[in-house]
Amino acid sequence: MGEPLKFPEGFLWGTASAAHQVEGDNRNNDWWRFEQEPGRIQNGDSSLVACDHYRRYREDFRLLREMHNNAHRLSIEWSRVEPRPGEFDSRQIRHYRDVLGELREQGLQPMLTLHHFTSPIWFAEGGGWASSGAPEAFVRFVRRVVRDLGDLVHLWCTINEPNIYAFNGWLGGEFPPGRRGDLLGVWRVLAHMRQAHLAAYRAIHEQLPDARVGLSHHRFLLLPERNTRRDRWAARTAEGFMDRWPVGRVRRERVVEAEADWIGIAHYWAQNAALDLRRPGEQFIPRRNVPGVPVTDMGWTSDPAWMRDVLNEVRELGKPVYVTENGISTGDDAVRQAYLPAVLRSVHRAIADGVDVRGYFHWTATDNFEWARGYSQKFGLIAVDRTTLEREMKPSAMLYARIAAANAVEPD
Ligand code: NOJ
Repeated sequence: MGEPLKFPEGFLWGTASAAHQVEGDNRNNDWWRFEQEPGRIQNGDSSLVACDHYRRYREDFRLLREMHNNAHRLSIEWSRVEPRPGEFDSRQIRHYRDVLGELREQGLQPMLTLHHFTSPIWFAEGGGWASSGAPEAFVRFVRRVVRDLGDLVHLWCTINEPNIYAFNGWLGGEFPPGRRGDLLGVWRVLAHMRQAHLAAYRAIHEQLPDARVGLSHHRFLLLPERNTRRDRWAARTAEGFMDRWPVGRVRRERVVEAEADWIGIAHYWAQNAALDLRRPGEQFIPRRNVPGVPVTDMGWTSDPAWMRDVLNEVRELGKPVYVTENGISTGDDAVRQAYLPAVLRSVHRAIADGVDVRGYFHWTATDNFEWARGYSQKFGLIAVDRTTLEREMKPSAMLYARIAAANAVEPD
């Protein structure tokens, strides 16, 4: 075997999570309400308990430290901090001060996400992200968070995966508000999220000039099914739809080109796209899993080699890059143990290609509430017993610990 592949000094090794998926007892947001509607969540699961991380965060952060991680990406729950418009709950703010303080004491640098799919009920009732007042409401919350927690956070992630949020909520109906086929809604949500990101970026910098601010873009790769001009066009067109958000009335810009100090890439999977004029229901561009590539429990084809490609796409933008999410849903940890070093070799190759990758956040630490899929999906390095909530490190967690400690991954 050759020499271990070393990562740059100071590389961040972490895991990523989202408040609603791990905390438990988040009953003041639109997701909670959505979960109460019959048939929305697989097996009738609910986020009521989740991982009880709201109370067990100290124990969880100790496990991250045992994994030799030096960073952790988490989100702050807007509906806890601002339960009614303009009314902030100082007890909840204190809770997050404790959480962030504890992280730092454990030697874990926080990356704080300000919006990760959930919104307060009052905000959703006012039209949510489809409403033109959304950016202003969001920024009022952001200013308060920065004022009260800004001394504890250097890395800020304004919005998580705007494209997935808009498509799942307004096109596929899998997320609240559960709308289907509402393309105008998608357009509005994305336009407002872009404005909100820019306003938050500026608000954070006004208060904290040295902060590093970005957002996490879900980079879902589309490959031409056959190497024909039609299929290449189909893949490019569908990707353009996935990867851009509106600037003004007509122009659209790549999400990764938004004003930011760093670029966040969440990458999990790819599909083939083809042009098929007999399929109007699929907008004439049916997507199919890539043949010959392993399929995860989510039904996604995941090839670790794709990570290098998606990272290379942002190389010319010349900014620091974080892999804000990557992982694999599988009940068979051996599959994860094979995937993890392979995908990290792919990140390493991208760095060798000249992409300034500064950190990798694996999705996720503990098996958690996977939105409409409930607890059926196991993305975690750490198992959670659904009855006792006891945590148990899987072998992949030990593997990740060795990689993070060595700041290196074994070669092929
Ligand atoms: C992206 C999302 O940000 C996260 O919430 C989700 O659990 C993972 N992908 C896995 O689907």
